[in-house]
Amino acid sequence: MRIGVLTGGGDCPGLNAVIRAVVRKGVAEYGHEFVGFRDGWRGPLEGETVPLGVEQVRGILPRGGTILGTSRTNPYKLDWGPERIQNRMTELGLDALIAIGGEDTLGVARRLYDEGVHVVGVPKTIDNDLAATDYTFGFDTAVNIAMEAIDRLHTTAESHHRALVVEVMGRHAGWIALQAGMAGGANVVLIPERPFDLAAVCDYVERRFRTHYSPIIVVAEGATPKEGTMALAAGELDSFGHVRLGGIGQLLADEVEKRTGKESRAVVLGHVQRGGTPTAFDRVLATRFGLGAIDAVQDGAFGQMVALRGTDIVRVPLSEATAELKTVPLERYAEAEVFFG
Ligand code: F6P
Repeated sequence: MRIGVLTGGGDCPGLNAVIRAVVRKGVAEYGHEFVGFRDGWRGPLEGETVPLGVEQVRGILPRGGTILGTSRTNPYKLDWGPERIQNRMTELGLDALIAIGGEDTLGVARRLYDEGVHVVGVPKTIDNDLAATDYTFGFDTAVNIAMEAIDRLHTTAESHHRALVVEVMGRHAGWIALQAGMAGGANVVLIPERPFDLAAVCDYVERRFRTHYSPIIVVAEGATPKEGTMALAAGELDSFGHVRLGGIGQLLADEVEKRTGKESRAVVLGHVQRGGTPTAFDRVLATRFGLGAIDAVQDGAFGQMVALRGTDIVRVPLSEATAELKTVPLERYAEAEVFFG
């Protein structure tokens, strides 16, 4: 078979490990050929391809980012977008497509499959918010980067008797904030699933200062204050209709300083969480997803996505994978709350 491969949406440590596993097993065991598409859905839309063979995937296992490039291009927002993709696949003689991406990329993959394209999905997002899989690769790396930052911020916060607000990624789900906050011993963790009460946050900050330690507040970029308690600015939208987030950390630091009288600083980890080499967990998960994806193509299991359930790699319909987001259950948040203040 001739198979196209693309990576779409935000990049994520482990994407190259997936590409490598797909190509290595596809060539060695099944004798397939591959075509790499540049920059997510932009590649098949505009016919931008790169050679993708064993030679191109040598040495990429530990490398962050994606050798194929990525974008947030949405073919369903463009004239004849889906048709252009189908025509391109025919021109290139492709029998199947492997789409590696999050909610948006896999949503496009599902619609293309409904229209007859032979597509298999691989889930990726540092946010870990895809419901059909227990974990996505990239998440463990992001959590470890955030944890290390929190560890470092504790010592500088304490030296200066300051409150430090750490803004981490997490658009709709607070998994990174929750896990990094718990692992790093944060004094407050704020997540999108639970609008926060500014007065309670300030209370935790003051309690922590009374013990002669400095508070660390971890806030997910998608966290919001309870209605009417703090003003937020509206951001731009991308082609999937998502607001560009970022900025809640600084707003929060300003409010905490105003209300408690304690010097407060904000640190935005941003794309640092997505860059660089993946952890061992993410390399192994990404590799297993890649092996599972090429097996799915070989079996003609189109319209499916590989997923982790417990310790097994399984297949789930793309429709199930994109049906709902996996958000933090309130009982998990309650576990973190034990350590607030
Ligand atoms: O979707 C993953 C994610 O990292 C979100 O946590 C974040 O809101 C978004 O991507 C940032 O997107 P961009 O890199 O395009 O600014």
